[in-house]
Amino acid sequence: MANKQIDVIVVGSGLAAYMTAKHLSERMNVMIFTKLTKQNNNSNLAQGGIAAAIRSDDHWVHHFEDTIEAGVHHNNRDAVTILTMEGPRAVQSIIDEGMEFDYEPSGKLSFGHEGAHSHRRIIHAGGDQTGKKIMEFVQKRVNVEMKENETVVQLLAHDNTIYGVQTIANDGSRNVYYAPSVVLATGGAGGLFYYTSNDPSITGTGLAMAYEIGAKLVDLEFMQFHPTLFSIGGKAVGLISEAVRGEGAYLVNNAGEQIMKGKHRLEDLAPRDVVARVIYKEIQKGNRVFLNISLVENFMSRFPSITSLCKQYGISLEKNLIPVVPGAHFFMGGIETNIQGETSVEGLYAVGEAACNGVHGANRLASNSLLECLVFTKRVAECIMRKGSVVENIQLVRNNKNTPYSPYFPLPKKREIQQKMMDYAGIVRTEEGLLTLKRWLQQYERAWEFPLQYEQKEDIEIAQMLQLCFLIVQSALAREESRGAHYRADFPYVKNEWEQKKVITCKYESQL
Ligand code: SIN
Repeated sequence: MANKQIDVIVVGSGLAAYMTAKHLSERMNVMIFTKLTKQNNNSNLAQGGIAAAIRSDDHWVHHFEDTIEAGVHHNNRDAVTILTMEGPRAVQSIIDEGMEFDYEPSGKLSFGHEGAHSHRRIIHAGGDQTGKKIMEFVQKRVNVEMKENETVVQLLAHDNTIYGVQTIANDGSRNVYYAPSVVLATGGAGGLFYYTSNDPSITGTGLAMAYEIGAKLVDLEFMQFHPTLFSIGGKAVGLISEAVRGEGAYLVNNAGEQIMKGKHRLEDLAPRDVVARVIYKEIQKGNRVFLNISLVENFMSRFPSITSLCKQYGISLEKNLIPVVPGAHFFMGGIETNIQGETSVEGLYAVGEAACNGVHGANRLASNSLLECLVFTKRVAECIMRKGSVVENIQLVRNNKNTPYSPYFPLPKKREIQQKMMDYAGIVRTEEGLLTLKRWLQQYERAWEFPLQYEQKEDIEIAQMLQLCFLIVQSALAREESRGAHYRADFPYVKNEWEQKKVITCKYESQL
């Protein structure tokens, strides 16, 4: 095993990981680990843009109110204040550094519109390539050592204090890296579901590892399903940005009926959970659903990456119909943090989608996720720098869970987990379905209790996925109401007694 001392380990390769490393790297020795390559993250895939109240007819208070409304009042209002109030400054600072967003011919920034926003406030780059452009911009400006294809499989902690990570590289070698601060920027958990807009590497393993060492996970019942993933041959093969509906596209079924008419006052720009459920019901009836883009002006230049995706899969834009299906998009739940990214484990931080500081409530407002990375990474980095990097006398005591304990236990295939999660913990949930899934998952309890009994990193990942699925199901069962992205057909309304921001917390207890 290699043995290296670093100030801060950052796990992940999206905007949250890179921005944290960028803020820290002038003062500290940072190393980034990612399980695949630096391209494999969700930030890179973000199409819509970044929301911020920059226009003179807008105000951060409107952005605050929209965020709380979309989050169905489950948000942490302090976190929302920080996000929306500091958002314009964070965006301006990256513009000042040279990031190029799209401009109108008049020379003013171009602002897009997306669901549940009261104002046009989404700035974008390269049309629908905001994530890719901002990642290229930031990656060029971060100069730290990056370990690609080296998967963190375990967080090392003793006495509720982190001291490093264990990794497995592609050649199977296992390494231990010691550091007094570890930042999890591993993204959400879309890859637990069959239909997802996420990069396939995003399977929630960072959350499962944090849970294993005693960090609290919260709000796991809130997985946002994006209404319009590009649907080809029974699979979701990419995202069709909500910005397309913002520019006038609307949803139709195969009979040509406009399915959002009469369903919500905002029709096609209703909150994502509402639109996703309407599409889901159409599909349950045996219908197919399409985005009609006939009213969108200059589609090809405004949405170049969607245009090339359609070409790649043989969908002619001249017909003006893009086939869509809803799928897992953004995890509002995650590792519980305060507004500085501190978790319940000393030295362990989380930021971006992996974290839950409550900013998104029960349903994230469109284009608030890249903004979250810009705003909160600064606070995390400041907190780490304030605390310093040196922890004296780290006790190198191995966690008992390191040792293979139980004999090898057979695992299901990823595809099977994803289909079951989609069917029973997806867009519409019931107690019966969740209990069926819970029983199925429970057969694998010995697998997830000891993920490191497996030698291959792919098997460890599956064991960790099962752990997180179980916690999601437990949380979805516990929330006997419907709020935001969590919809229970057997409890279809928001419940008054859940109004006071009741939070479901998962804390490690051995199930055996
Ligand atoms: C989209 O472009 O529809 C996704 C953007 C987001 O999730 O904020």
